Amino acid sequence: MIVPGYRDQPVEPWDREAPVDPGEAEDFLRRCYTENPRLGPVEPRLAIVRAQIAATGSYVHTTEELAHGARMAWRNASRCIGRLYWRSLVVLDRRRARTADEIYSLLVQHLRAAGDGALRPVISVFAPAQPGQPFARVWNEQLIRYAGYRTEAGETVGDPRQAGLTEAVRGLGWRGKGEAFDVLPLVIETPGDGIRLYELPERAIREVPLTHPDHGWFAELGLRWHAVPAISNMRLTIGGVHYPLAPFNGWYMGTEVGARNLADADRYDLLPEIAKRLELDTSRESTLWRDRALVELNRAVLHSFELAGVKMSDHHTESQRFMAHLRNEERAGRPVPADWTWIVPPMSGGLTPVFHRYYEEMDLRPAFYLDDEAANLAQGCPFKRTR
Ligand code: ARG
Repeated sequence: MIVPGYRDQPVEPWDREAPVDPGEAEDFLRRCYTENPRLGPVEPRLAIVRAQIAATGSYVHTTEELAHGARMAWRNASRCIGRLYWRSLVVLDRRRARTADEIYSLLVQHLRAAGDGALRPVISVFAPAQPGQPFARVWNEQLIRYAGYRTEAGETVGDPRQAGLTEAVRGLGWRGKGEAFDVLPLVIETPGDGIRLYELPERAIREVPLTHPDHGWFAELGLRWHAVPAISNMRLTIGGVHYPLAPFNGWYMGTEVGARNLADADRYDLLPEIAKRLELDTSRESTLWRDRALVELNRAVLHSFELAGVKMSDHHTESQRFMAHLRNEERAGRPVPADWTWIVPPMSGGLTPVFHRYYEEMDLRPAFYLDDEAANLAQGCPFKRTR
């Protein structure tokens, strides 16, 4: 199944009516208990889970199962270069929250727990979806994202990737400042409260103003980026149980901001402006003005985060860490599913060790999936629901 705008990721068909698959539950539990001997023997637990599934169509994870399952899902995320630290994921068990207000305040707590300098990887796991029942969700693709306002001239102020959601929240009554870096409100949808908008408090949003180590004019561009990437619309599936609301964060690799968010022609598209300021010859591609501007933009991003004391890694270091992760996992006898097109950094790919090899692409679970419907909601398209 191909989701427009996303490469052909294997999207697990999720039958929302179906009870938990006992085979998948067993497979997960056996792995979980083998990897964590301190949890004791798995057989008695399997008997309980089988009975729970037979009686209710689902089962309830213990706190340890939830925590290890979430870490396994990160370990299995084939597009993530940052998996060396999968064991360090902080798992916040938020399964009891029901109302939109509760969820909102726990999302604010999530961002506080992630930190604002020395960032920690954190996941908040909210209630699982019960077969055939509606569930709570967040429309936004990340907890912190900048609005994109389409102008009449057909241009966009802000992040064009968020233009659809921005239009949707404006339709719901939100008014942004109309500037290039306005943080969007959270759109929280629950069975009990319907769709509600919430503005994040300033203390939950750490941002870094961008400056360049050598060029004073760079600050005049008025660029900034948020410290924490926190994906909020992927479904976490563990042992056949689906958690549609399980936002997670790590820290940024510089190129995500400098070589994609601020550089892509369909995002902030800043390379022409930066090349002009650098007085580069943009009359021909062969002057490599784009590449030269790209390097300076990425130097600015890494420099600014370092100056602000906000954790960020560069693509050389993160590539070496991923190679270490491959060695660790090989020693542990586990395969590492990886998607070359996502693992290789978007600049200077061939300078990094991750470029010079092939990877196995496998759909291992526990896993994170982006459902079509979640992707549509993040574009502000509630009517293109798939089921
Ligand atoms: N690339 C996405 C962004 O720029 C974030 C994806 C997750 N990244 C991470 N370092 N955990 O916003």
